[in-house]
Amino acid sequence: MNLFVAAVFFAQLLSCTALSMVPTPHIRALDCDDPESEAAAWAAVTHINANHQHGYKYTLNRIEAIKVLQRRPSEEVFKLELDLLETTCHALSPTILQDCSVRPLVEHAVEGDCDVKLLKVDGNFSVLSYRCKSEPDSAEDIASVCPTCPLLAPFNDSQVAQAVETLLQQVNSPDDNIYFLFHEIGRARIWTLPENAVEVEFVVVATNCTTQDAKNASDGCVRLSGDDEQYGFCVGTAKAAPEDNHVNCTAFKAKVAASDPSAAHPDPKGNPEVAGHGHHPFQPVHLTSSSEESSSSEMVHPTAADPSADPTAANVIVKRSIAAQPIPAVPLPVCPGNKRFF
Ligand SMILES: *[C@@H]1O[C@H](CO)[C@@H](O)[C@H](O)[C@H]1NC(C)=O
Ligand SMILES: *[C@@H]1O[C@H](CO)[C@@H](O)[C@H](O)[C@H]1NC(C)=O
Ligand SMILES: *[C@@H]1O[C@H](CO)[C@@H](O)[C@H](O)[C@H]1NC(C)=O
Ligand SMILES: *[C@@H]1O[C@H](CO)[C@@H](O)[C@H](O)[C@H]1NC(C)=O
Ligand SMILES: *[C@@H]1O[C@H](CO)[C@@H](O)[C@H](O)[C@H]1NC(C)=O
Repeated sequence: MNLFVAAVFFAQLLSCTALSMVPTPHIRALDCDDPESEAAAWAAVTHINANHQHGYKYTLNRIEAIKVLQRRPSEEVFKLELDLLETTCHALSPTILQDCSVRPLVEHAVEGDCDVKLLKVDGNFSVLSYRCKSEPDSAEDIASVCPTCPLLAPFNDSQVAQAVETLLQQVNSPDDNIYFLFHEIGRARIWTLPENAVEVEFVVVATNCTTQDAKNASDGCVRLSGDDEQYGFCVGTAKAAPEDNHVNCTAFKAKVAASDPSAAHPDPKGNPEVAGHGHHPFQPVHLTSSSEESSSSEMVHPTAADPSADPTAANVIVKRSIAAQPIPAVPLPVCPGNKRFF
């Protein structure tokens, strides 16, 4: 019996020894603002936007942190922490990100925070997984640049719902127009000074009816799909006096949905996950599709690829302030990178 216990103990000791002899992953030091870090970050942002169907496209503000792990001789895994900012382009719009302006701080900007894992093979990046959170900027930040600017209003606010309804009627008022249905609210703010005004951005979708048809029986109007699919991105303001209302819509064809069209929730007012926020939060976690899942799960299992198992890994990313100290023999990577906007 004692012999048996000893044998088990010895076997465990052996396996521990074997584990500790697994070579630690090679970690390549890369500055957050290195062009290679940026290439990885842009690949990530492109992928995140392609999978984001509600609200607005996001752009890169800053690379917070980066780790590069050797996986196979020709493959590296990049782990990035990214700060993103909302743009003024709707998530479904085909406008390329370079042509989208960042939402100004005074309009109550929304920030995204993403952890992304990418694979680099032969110089090409592909996203293995990502996790993003989004949050409107703090009230204090807005107040510091514009004390009178309103914050984002929840989508289920009754004034917001009323404004969308009124402006949608205006969009649909010319008799020979395409009849549009409401698709989603993008954002809304309620001004009280100098007068009560609800500023709202929303998306409408074209149906097979004219507004004349719809007057008879709007129930029979169905949204156009496939090649005929058409959206309108509308920016408007509703005031106490309806004659002061104005709304402008820009027509667009939706970008090709990268995945998950089932995630659509056309009534943000009725969707409790979205209604109270005032913006469209990210879907919590994303793993990429089947072709990359195998490599993704391979990545999770071998401890050799898990940087959290390597105590030296945590020390590789240093804050910018530390990098300003006397230069060590091996230069430490400089992180976080520069902010592009605010
Ligand atoms: C990397 O991208 C280049 C250019 O797009 C392409 O020719 C090449 O096949 C890609 N390599 C891999 C491994 O995907
Ligand atoms: C729109 O499509 C629906 C379903 O196909 C059909 O019942 C309806 O008559 C169409 N309406 C018009 C005005 O074409
Ligand atoms: C609309 O209603 C009028 C009167 O009820 C009817 O004559 C007309 O045919 C209807 N038009 C459509 C497109 O259904
Ligand atoms: C709508 O478009 C007109 C003409 O292009 C412009 O004068 C007006 O300011 C726009 N209104 C909004 C709310 O963007
Ligand atoms: C709006 O939605 C939030 C979150 O679901 C809820 O707590 C709040 O009561 C709702 N407000 C109204 C006016 O319905």
